[in-house]
Amino acid sequence: MKKSVLFVCLGNICRSPSAEAVFQGLVDREGLSDQFSIDSAGTSAYHAGEPADRRMQSHAVRRGINLTSISRGFNASSDFDEFDIIVAMDDSNFYNLQDVARTDEDQAKIVKMTDYCSRFNYDHVPDPYYGGAEGFELVLDLLEDACEGLLNELR
Ligand code: 4NP
Repeated sequence: MKKSVLFVCLGNICRSPSAEAVFQGLVDREGLSDQFSIDSAGTSAYHAGEPADRRMQSHAVRRGINLTSISRGFNASSDFDEFDIIVAMDDSNFYNLQDVARTDEDQAKIVKMTDYCSRFNYDHVPDPYYGGAEGFELVLDLLEDACEGLLNELR
C-alpha cells in the first residue's frame, strides 16, 4: 500500500509546494517513489490555479528543487479520505485543519511539520510571503530537515 502525504500551508504557493518538492526529491533519491503519493494544498484557495510564488521558486531552484505544483485549496470532504498523513506548516494551518476534521480518525492524521525537525529548533515554518530573502531560505532549511525526519518515520 502506498503511503499518501499531504502538505498544507495557507496559500499553497510558498511553504507546502516546497515541502512537496523537497519530500518528493528525498523519496526519489532513496528509490521509494513507488511507495509514496505526495501532494500539497492551502487552507485558503485564494491562489488556486497559480504556480508557486516566483521568489520561492528561485530560492528552491538554487538548491536543485523544482516547484511544479499548482495551488489548490484543501478539500475536507476528499483529502481526509485520500491521505494518510496531513502535515501542517504552522499552528494556524494546524488549527484550521482540526476545525474541518469530520472524525477522530481525521484528527489523528493531522501533524505539524516542525515536529520532524532534528537540526532546527522551531515550532512552526514561518510564513515567508511578506518578508525578505532570508525567510525563503529559512523555509527551505526547515523543510529539508523536517522532510528527512518525516521520511525516516514513514519508511
Ligand atoms: P504560503 O504563503 O502559505 O506558504 O503559501 C503565503 C502565500 C500567500 C499569502 C500568505 C502566505 N497571502 O496572503 O496571499
